[in-house]
Amino acid sequence: MIVSLMHLLVHLRILNLIVFCPDNMSLCLLFLLWLVSIPLLAHSQPNPRGYLLNCGAGPTSESVTVGNLKYTTDEGFILVGNTSTIKQEDLVPILATLRYFPNKSARKYCYSIPVIKGGKYLVRTTYYYGNFDGGKEPPVFDQIVEGTKWSVVNTTEDYANGLSSYYEIVVHAKSKTFSVCLARNNMTGSDSSPFISALELEYLDDSVYNTTDFSKYALSTVVRSSFGTSEDDKFNRLWQPQMDQNPIVRCKANVTPSDFWNVPPAKAFHNSITTSRGKQLHVKWPSWPLPSAAYYIALYFQDNRNPSPFSWRVFNVSINGKNFYSNVNVTTRGLTVYAPKWPLSGQTEIVMTPGQGVPVGPVISAGEILQVLPLGGMTLPRDVMAMNELRRNFDNPPPDWSGDPCLPEGNSWTGVTCDGGKFFRVITLNLTGAGISGSLAPNIANLTALHHIWLGGNKLLGNIPEMGSLKELQSLHLEKNQLEGSIPESLGRLPKIREIFLQDNKLEGDVPETLQNTKINIQLKNEVDSEPESPVNM
Ligand SMILES: *[C@@H]1O[C@H](CO)[C@@H](O)[C@H](O)[C@H]1NC(C)=O
Ligand SMILES: *[C@@H]1O[C@H](CO)[C@@H](O)[C@H](O)[C@H]1NC(C)=O
Ligand SMILES: *[C@@H]1O[C@H](CO)[C@@H](O)[C@H](O)[C@H]1NC(C)=O
Ligand SMILES: *[C@@H]1O[C@H](CO)[C@@H](O)[C@H](O)[C@H]1NC(C)=O
Ligand SMILES: *[C@@H]1O[C@H](CO)[C@@H](O)[C@H](O)[C@H]1NC(C)=O
Ligand SMILES: *[C@@H]1O[C@H](CO)[C@@H](O)[C@H](O)[C@H]1NC(C)=O
Ligand SMILES: *[C@@H]1O[C@H](CO)[C@@H](O)[C@H](O)[C@H]1NC(C)=O
Ligand SMILES: *[C@@H]1O[C@H](CO)[C@@H](O)[C@H](O)[C@H]1NC(C)=O
Ligand SMILES: *[C@@H]1O[C@H](CO)[C@@H](O)[C@H](O)[C@H]1NC(C)=O
Repeated sequence: MIVSLMHLLVHLRILNLIVFCPDNMSLCLLFLLWLVSIPLLAHSQPNPRGYLLNCGAGPTSESVTVGNLKYTTDEGFILVGNTSTIKQEDLVPILATLRYFPNKSARKYCYSIPVIKGGKYLVRTTYYYGNFDGGKEPPVFDQIVEGTKWSVVNTTEDYANGLSSYYEIVVHAKSKTFSVCLARNNMTGSDSSPFISALELEYLDDSVYNTTDFSKYALSTVVRSSFGTSEDDKFNRLWQPQMDQNPIVRCKANVTPSDFWNVPPAKAFHNSITTSRGKQLHVKWPSWPLPSAAYYIALYFQDNRNPSPFSWRVFNVSINGKNFYSNVNVTTRGLTVYAPKWPLSGQTEIVMTPGQGVPVGPVISAGEILQVLPLGGMTLPRDVMAMNELRRNFDNPPPDWSGDPCLPEGNSWTGVTCDGGKFFRVITLNLTGAGISGSLAPNIANLTALHHIWLGGNKLLGNIPEMGSLKELQSLHLEKNQLEGSIPESLGRLPKIREIFLQDNKLEGDVPETLQNTKINIQLKNEVDSEPESPVNM
């Protein structure tokens, strides 16, 4: 429909949710409006269409209700972290508990949520520090969604203003398990812990934001406003009331949300801002400057007058001086214009110029700006499946073995090194002396890009799986475990293998011929084994 231009991104802006009602009544009112008017729809649909998680609520917690929405505990969706309760009166219930992550050596802390594979989800994370750790300032850390670094979480300014912070992103689910993770970064204080208050996931209908290719991009919400009002939304999106000095008009017709691809709530049209006949309508929105990046922009218009053959108006729309759309003809049914990738930078100003002789001024009801965020690569699904299978076969996998094994780069699973090409592949698996018990899943043979397997000094039981498919494997360290059974003869046929350490296990049988008289550095002798009938016959 509209010009699309490529650009890059950096940041995103925090939207505010008012936390409590101190003596400032206008803040309080705002808060009440938002929470009371959010509809129930999230829950009339069965999971996995939607989840509302109250983080840190504890295993036995009852669900809490905010407005019409029911939030349940996050137990069962995450295996790591500790919980805390914030001692502050009049706090919205979902902000009164949180989950925090004290383990400094974990590469990330992940929620795993069952979803519809390929579904498009709106994810919202909410943070309210509440001084849970007795520190000076909220910690600063990263948030990650489906293996892509989403943004830095810095709630310092909001917290100082008595507000919670929320972030929102639209992402496509790569598999049946959706991951949302937090991670330390170089700005996270050494004595502070990443934390989260609430996590929400909402399934979006096909038509919503459908001009974006979600296999390549995510859309991170910058601002979603209902001009001259406050809102109501089928997908539980928050439409912030947005007022400026322009006059407000009230809608006198019925608007049908399903007529619009993005299904804006009818209430987004209840009020609009306008200006007098013949004048330009100027809207500085959002009120803060944006980082230079590509944005998805949708603007919603509606002629507020009683429906009649004459209740339409024509005007041009420009953004920062560039023509966005010419001669929009806005009727009482409403209309949206959008751009899937529009470059913005700094303060944004939308100017609507009335057509010649149009008897009423331009009008605007609502708008959305979402930053177009390129996804950070993809791990080969077969490797992801194999790594998950390995994890399931360990009794005590490292606590950060959750979410994507490789991504984002720098937040791979502990002991896992990956290499990126078209797909990221696991190239090293190193859990030397990590105290791992359980067994080695046969699926390790699917990790065909592996160069090194170092699992020595653990408590692994069971057999050595067949690994004949690991054509890149150079070193295999399984020494000092409790592995049983025979040595697979295929090990000797691996083209690149240089080192095989299998000593100090409970292996039996003959050493396969393929491993005799080779240049491979093979260690098989059990140092601790003093019995005459050596389990491995050299
Ligand atoms: C967090 O929980 C773990 C186990 O659940 C416990 O060992 C640890 O002491 C707790 N950490 C803090 C800081 O409370
Ligand atoms: C912290 O995380 C690391 C890496 O996942 C893990 O090896 C270690 O056991 C964890 N520590 C605790 C106390 O859970
Ligand atoms: C977090 O935000 C505050 C307020 O905007 C800013 O002063 C501070 O430098 C930020 N912290 C980091 C680590 O970026
Ligand atoms: C912190 O990390 C970011 C992104 O990885 C990097 O751009 C920045 O230079 C780092 N800052 C410091 C102080 O190391
Ligand atoms: C988006 O959804 C609408 C309504 O279902 C459909 O008419 C349109 O073709 C879709 N556009 C794309 C790019 O998929
Ligand atoms: C705008 O739309 C209305 C209703 O469809 C139509 O009657 C009118 O002629 C249109 N105006 C222009 C300038 O196209
Ligand atoms: C609206 O834009 C069109 C095309 O750019 C231009 O021809 C027309 O003069 C503009 N109308 C007004 C009122 O600026
Ligand atoms: C595996 O980890 C051990 C101990 O941390 C280290 O000594 C060894 O060099 C690592 N091996 C590889 C291939 O990275
Ligand atoms: C992975 O390995 C398992 C067990 O070896 C096998 O059954 C499965 O088909 C493999 N999966 C893929 C995608 O290759």
